[in-house]
Amino acid sequence: MGDKMNHDEILKKVNPVYFSAKACLALLAKTGDSDIVNFYNSIDREYLPDLDNDPVTKTRTISLEARYTSWRLIAEDTDCPNIVDLPCGYLPNCLHAARLKKNYYGLDLPIVIDEISCVADKFLNETEKSFVHYHSVDATNYSSMRNALKNVTGKICIIMDGLLGYFNREDLKSVCENIHRLLSEFGGCWYISEAQFIDLMAITYAELGGDKEEMVQMNKAGSGQIADSDNSDFLFIGGTLEERRRFMEDCGFSVKSFPYNEKLKMIPSLKDNPALMKKILSAYGEIEEWVLTADSTSSTANKNFDVSFAQEFSLKDNVLSIRISGRLDTITAPELLKKYEEQRATNKFTEIYLDAANLDYISYAGLRALNIMRDDNSFKIINADGEVLKILEENGYICQ
Ligand SMILES: C[S@@+](CC[C@H](N)C(=O)[O-])C[C@H]1O[C@@H](n2cnc3c(N)ncnc32)[C@H](O)[C@@H]1O
Repeated sequence: MGDKMNHDEILKKVNPVYFSAKACLALLAKTGDSDIVNFYNSIDREYLPDLDNDPVTKTRTISLEARYTSWRLIAEDTDCPNIVDLPCGYLPNCLHAARLKKNYYGLDLPIVIDEISCVADKFLNETEKSFVHYHSVDATNYSSMRNALKNVTGKICIIMDGLLGYFNREDLKSVCENIHRLLSEFGGCWYISEAQFIDLMAITYAELGGDKEEMVQMNKAGSGQIADSDNSDFLFIGGTLEERRRFMEDCGFSVKSFPYNEKLKMIPSLKDNPALMKKILSAYGEIEEWVLTADSTSSTANKNFDVSFAQEFSLKDNVLSIRISGRLDTITAPELLKKYEEQRATNKFTEIYLDAANLDYISYAGLRALNIMRDDNSFKIINADGEVLKILEENGYICQ
């Protein structure tokens, strides 16, 4: 690695997945929706590819528009005063919530929040701004989520679109446990528009004359690239609808489903082609949206949700020793990289010993931080055990 990375570069390095949300905004901009176009014109569009008008792009745009429109309809319908948009990506959902005079909590990874909060500011008036709150979270990290909602009073309605496909089963369980705990405390519900997001695209593609199975395979392959990992056992990519439902029930949720076209009666960009819109909306009758509520029983009574992160650095001869404890995830991995970069700028070392005895959890973002340190130095991990040891070994680390 060359020069010292700045804060923004560190955030991008530990979680490149944010880019998928920019791609969603770019696809949605093709609908011509003025809020979307305003936001699209205001984000940093470096590296965003030009989009064609081919059937695959059209399919993605229509499917995303259906999801975006559904988000707004749910926000309108809910009687909860607080809407939690997780993950908010770069969409202008804050404008809709604020126009409805509902509190809006846009949650996403730090790299996204840094940019979207500034973009949103340009398009909100002073009254609307009082409804809108953006916070950096990692959905697997309970403290970050609880902290984001620290000023909330009243029930929350979490409207989720475009997240669950990024998680292996262990991370998915953490996300579910975190949301279960939040819903148990605040009350409210959790809408999931992505229970069948690959099927939604496949059905749209079929209605445009394409082959359903081809779209399913394309999406599975594309999601693997975005997740930057082997995602074949990710439940919301590879699992069946029934397995997904059972997983949620096992996490202590009651799951109700309704067909996509129950709320969605219009796809605005297809208004000039009513026959196609009708066909697509009718086909969406096969696709489920879910609304989950937390049962009073949950298996997390003994779980310690507040596993914070700590790091200690010491230098002797050529060796930098690092001891880390708690959770190394999207929120905490930048802290580790930042401290490492400071050490590199001021000290000379060629070897790193990382003591992972008290590391409770490591995510892909954490692994990326370790990869960067490993690329620059001779790198040894000592004392890792349990699930952390398993993940490190699966990712090519030889631990002692
Ligand atoms: C496909 S985008 C969807 C964003 C938005 N809902 C939309 O429809 O455009 C996926 C989003 O998930 C966010 N994300 C990925 N992993 C996350 C995590 N662990 N916690 C919170 N957000 C995460 C990414 O930063 C990205 O903004």
